[in-house]
Amino acid sequence: MKFSEINKLLKGIPFISESNAKALYNFIIENKLTSCLELGFAHGVASCYIAAALDELGQGYLVSVDLVEAENIFKPTIQELLEKCGLAKYVTVHREPTGYNWFLHNDIKKNTGADNICAPVYDLCIIDGPKNWTIDGSAFFCADKLLKKNGWIIFDDYNWTYAKAAKVREVTDGIAHRQLSEDELNLPHVKEIFHLLVLQHPAYSNFKIQQDGDWAWAQKIDMSTKKISYTYSTSTKDVIVKGMLSLIKKLRR
Ligand SMILES: C[S@@+](CC[C@H](N)C(=O)[O-])C[C@H]1O[C@@H](n2cnc3c(N)ncnc32)[C@H](O)[C@@H]1O
Repeated sequence: MKFSEINKLLKGIPFISESNAKALYNFIIENKLTSCLELGFAHGVASCYIAAALDELGQGYLVSVDLVEAENIFKPTIQELLEKCGLAKYVTVHREPTGYNWFLHNDIKKNTGADNICAPVYDLCIIDGPKNWTIDGSAFFCADKLLKKNGWIIFDDYNWTYAKAAKVREVTDGIAHRQLSEDELNLPHVKEIFHLLVLQHPAYSNFKIQQDGDWAWAQKIDMSTKKISYTYSTSTKDVIVKGMLSLIKKLRR
């Protein structure tokens, strides 16, 4: 399914931004990432974009995982959206009572052979859940076992903090803000995970940090040197350039 078509069907439903959705959709097609895992799907909007890219490739599957309790919160549900878009055949939906780390436990166990080695199964894993050091740090190490060599891992919410969330609510995904230390409140947990666990992991390189898109990407590839790039999306560049041009115009007047 073409990007413009799926984009039209999902208009106005959170959470993935249009620019991140487009980047993800194109990346899956360009790199032929046919086995995908999404941790945290909410309404399933990103799931639908991934499924649309798989449909365009003519093959592949996505496994999407979220909490049981989230089914009553996020309407329309992922199943409703997948049906609406005609993409349900590409996606297996899992809902876990305690979260995606238990799904990862089961998946590692399922893919562990008699030799006690876990066979990697995914080309792409997106981590977009509670943005918490303990939960998502653990999810990274578990997902790593299931990620194929040359596979990609993407973290959403690179800059997100509990301190920002505390302005609008008292609890995020079961974590009471008042129980957190100053550090835990103010440091972006995903950024800490990315810099202290992913960047330092010997099996990862080709890091991309999309400052404005709030995404951080890493490829599972053994390299002695680490490559890292910080990027801004074209749309932000455009905004900055436009702003500068109008400022220059004003100054010239
Ligand atoms: C921002 S939403 C995901 C949005 C989705 N990836 C998209 O872009 O359309 C975050 C989701 O993570 C889920 N979540 C939070 N903690 C979780 C956990 N421990 N295990 C599984 N899902 C979790 C929430 O229920 C919520 O649906």
